[in-house]
Amino acid sequence: MTTDRIHFPQEFSWGTATSGYQIEGGDSNTDWWRFERDPDSGTVEPCGDACDSWNRYEEDLDIIQSLGLNAYRFSVEWSRIEPTRGAISQATLDHYRDVIASCRRRSILPVVTLHHFTLPLWVADAGGFENPDIEHWISDYARVVGEALGDGIGIACTINEPNIVALMGYLMASFPPKVSSWERFVDVNRVMRACHLAMRGALREGPGNYPIGFALSMQEYEAVDGGDDLVNSLRHEMEDEYLRSCDDDDFIGVQCYTKIFLDANGLVEDFEGERTEMGYLFWPQCVEYTVRRAAQFTGIPIIVTENGIGTNDDEQRIRYLGEALQGLKKVQDEGVDVRGYFQWSLLDNFEWTFGYRPKFGIVAVDRTTFARTPKPSAQWYGEAARNYPRSVAALS
Ligand code: BGC
Repeated sequence: MTTDRIHFPQEFSWGTATSGYQIEGGDSNTDWWRFERDPDSGTVEPCGDACDSWNRYEEDLDIIQSLGLNAYRFSVEWSRIEPTRGAISQATLDHYRDVIASCRRRSILPVVTLHHFTLPLWVADAGGFENPDIEHWISDYARVVGEALGDGIGIACTINEPNIVALMGYLMASFPPKVSSWERFVDVNRVMRACHLAMRGALREGPGNYPIGFALSMQEYEAVDGGDDLVNSLRHEMEDEYLRSCDDDDFIGVQCYTKIFLDANGLVEDFEGERTEMGYLFWPQCVEYTVRRAAQFTGIPIIVTENGIGTNDDEQRIRYLGEALQGLKKVQDEGVDVRGYFQWSLLDNFEWTFGYRPKFGIVAVDRTTFARTPKPSAQWYGEAARNYPRSVAALS
């Protein structure tokens, strides 16, 4: 339940999202950095310097400000803050304090994620989310972040897509540690929920009275040819167990991109309809669907913490965002308490195993000079946000 202590921003948050590893560059003290160098990982290229946002965050924030957006979601890197167990890097904390202060100077709400897919090597080497001590380690880390940054944080997400870390890392064997086991997937999901609670507790002890939640990956699922059982069991693990566990959070972050089809054997790749560069179905209606579903399970405010499209065709991106925002308006009209929308992503960045090929950004990044060039979709989104809901009504 939201307590009186919590301060929710009065305005709807219109933002864009990134993550540390995908844009900072040089986050070498992580499981992902090592994973990319494993020839069997399936990663097409290493992350390397990413978008050099470690050095260029002011430039990124200038763009966000110029678009008239009022919020920015980014993540802080555990591997930089606590490079080895218990050794805290003050210089790193100072850096993130600067990022937060730079947001505040521009009237941009800093929405800070504490864990976005990567683990410090010392954690990964000790068994990561399968070591019973992870709950202590990650809450100690959250305590450090809360103490150092809490007075500036606008909204906090403890963990980004805990269910994707579990799915891709422990069932699909596509992310570190490359395991494929239903039991371990279920176990890690349970550990993730415990980690979130421990982190939330640690953050609440520190300064600041910002809302705290986590960001859940949700989808529209459709069962085809005998896929009902799989849809039910997967959705139970991926969504329902999480949505039932967050009543005492201040909000739930909903992240969605598409709709997937499952038959009795798993994911169906062969389906009708327009596709995105990721091979996903073009399905902006996932926003209204998942927000509605989250609202049915939880009585708490909802923030769309990620939504967007990987495409080289910026016109397709504009069409996607337009239809997504129309869906947002529909659920708001139905009375769902939505407090923000974050487009993924500000920059064309490192898309995990797919490397730099998929373009999720509203801003292009030159891979050699790191020069940023806003695309037409950046202007479009800024205007749509500033003029919402009029902008959306004009689309129908
Ligand atoms: C993740 C991002 C990723 C995006 C697009 C989300 O699952 O949080 O890190 O880049 O989807 O695939």
